[in-house]
Amino acid sequence: MRIDGISAVVTGGASGLGLATARRLVSLGAKVVLADLKGSPGAEAAAELGSSASFVPADVTDTESLNAALDAAERNGPLRALVHCAGRGGDRMRILNRDRTPGELDSFAEVLRINLVGTYNALRLAAARMAANDELVDGDRGACVLTASVAAFDGQIGQTSYTASKAGVHGITLVAARDLASWQIRVNTIAPGIFDTPMLGRLREDIREGLAASVPHPKRLGDPAEFAHLATDILANPYLNGQTIRLDGSIRMAPR
Ligand SMILES: NC(=O)c1ccc[n+]([C@@H]2O[C@H](COP(=O)([O-])OP(=O)(O)OC[C@H]3O[C@@H](n4cnc5c(N)ncnc54)[C@H](O)[C@@H]3O)[C@@H](O)[C@H]2O)c1
Repeated sequence: MRIDGISAVVTGGASGLGLATARRLVSLGAKVVLADLKGSPGAEAAAELGSSASFVPADVTDTESLNAALDAAERNGPLRALVHCAGRGGDRMRILNRDRTPGELDSFAEVLRINLVGTYNALRLAAARMAANDELVDGDRGACVLTASVAAFDGQIGQTSYTASKAGVHGITLVAARDLASWQIRVNTIAPGIFDTPMLGRLREDIREGLAASVPHPKRLGDPAEFAHLATDILANPYLNGQTIRLDGSIRMAPR
């Protein structure tokens, strides 16, 4: 699907991988709505990206605010692309604490609510808009890119909730592509390795350096622009569907 001139929504667009993707979409000629939390720096991000970008405060688990972001995108033209980057890290938690008490349930459920239920919500609401597009662009009514993580495949000890949420995103990718095929809407997922974003910026420098050194090649953290590149390539390539693509410098996470 050509990107020049399309209308797109990027959730989590105020920061990190989402912001880099919004920047690339704008550079390729798309009009982009950044959908991110009210307290995020979304307005500043949109201002920096120029007149082709705007910010709508939205929580991906909240249908009303997400629909407001989709309405704003449709004012730019028929919605053709969703890049869903909104998400949170997991709380480091063992299944059993040292004293043999079970890990906390509420935190597990909250990570799933934001990362997995939020993904389904963004997917279903965006797909509803795309399905109403009368015209196809290069054979598509629309295309969606979701964000999992390599933790979906090699989750580390303490990452049960995050891994479950991201494995869920990977799991719905093929079924969503099959489900939405009759509407000519493609769905693919990127499973990033370790990227240099504010989410990782919260880690200590020596831990970041250790993570970078653990990547086989190239021996560094991923650049958000590299994620953005893949996201727009996926949108552009009409034959890519139902696939989760690891973007990770061939890293396989160790148990801890
Ligand atoms: N950075 C990495 O190394 C890495 C690796 C694997 C997967 N990921 C995934 O990539 C995605 C983006 O991560 P990032 O590194 O850019 O993080 P980030 O913290 O820089 O950006 C995440 C954005 O999502 C927004 N967000 C959080 N909850 C939201 C909600 N309920 N509704 C709307 N917006 C919400 C945040 O406000 C933030 O702007 C996440 O899903 C993350 O799990 C990141």
